[in-house]
Amino acid sequence: MNGFPSILESIEDLNKSQIDALLERARALKNRAPARLPLEKPLYVATSFLEHSTRTKFSFSSAITRLGGYHIDFQAENSSLKKGESLEQTLLTLKYQGIDVCVIRTKVSHLLDQFKERPPIKIINGGDGSNQHPTQALLDLMTFIEVLGDVKGKRITIIGDCVHSRVTHSLMQLLPMYGVELYLCGPEEFIPQNRDERIKVAPSLDSAIENSDALYLLRIQSERHESSDKKSKDDPIDYHEQWGISISKLKKYKKNIPLFHPGPANIGVEVSDQLINSNLWMAHHQVKNSVYMRMAIIEAMVGNMDHEIGAKYTDISKEILGE
Ligand code: NCD
Repeated sequence: MNGFPSILESIEDLNKSQIDALLERARALKNRAPARLPLEKPLYVATSFLEHSTRTKFSFSSAITRLGGYHIDFQAENSSLKKGESLEQTLLTLKYQGIDVCVIRTKVSHLLDQFKERPPIKIINGGDGSNQHPTQALLDLMTFIEVLGDVKGKRITIIGDCVHSRVTHSLMQLLPMYGVELYLCGPEEFIPQNRDERIKVAPSLDSAIENSDALYLLRIQSERHESSDKKSKDDPIDYHEQWGISISKLKKYKKNIPLFHPGPANIGVEVSDQLINSNLWMAHHQVKNSVYMRMAIIEAMVGNMDHEIGAKYTDISKEILGE
């Protein structure tokens, strides 16, 4: 897609018409449209997951294969990064070995900011710390539209550890663009303070359930908690009692509404066993759509006609020769 960014770090890197085009293309791919890639050379995509993943990594792998490309899983722990090489030099090495795009997941929020000006290789953020997870938010939007129809004016509430959730940070940028009434709900210390004024906070779980068209549940992101944060909220039984979603809580307000989750879900914590095995559970649709949305994103980036990728050399000859 002409003008598509060469680094997708956050939702803010995209404008609405690019997102509309991704949604349309992902739907077409789901309906078996053939891949549309520049044909001069085969597609090579590397994934470098510096943090655990099942869904994101394998859905990228599946997307690359369905596009007819080759997937190279770059094992960062066995790479020269361990010998002190900078990430930039490692990425340049991949670029000159013919890799078109690198998908990076890292524990470090904003690690990719350094490449914004001039990326050493085309980069897709597969989740950076608690900052952003743009591809997850885009596939979630695709699924919301599939399940709810037009999302304008629909109330979606994200329940749980919003402050540590990179998915929430991306959804907070994306969903208001589509007129979603986005609410957050959860223990006070899990609600981000620096929010856009369009994002509201539900006064209680009861009110969130009663007034929402869909709920989006989150895992407690314990790995990102400071030891001082570890309060009763990390106790799974207490949490389920207070913030978890179960049939009885939905029944109270007769809310037969869809439940979304980016995965991995913790049964008996944010969701009950019965609900995860019910027709209300939409996480498998999200996983299915993830392949098509990631195909659309890779295709758009590879076809963006950006030829400025690679090393940024400065000519120092004059300085050396003293001219
Ligand atoms: C999420 C992530 O890694 O940020 N999962 C995902 O990508 N499907 C959410 C999470 O880990 O809780």
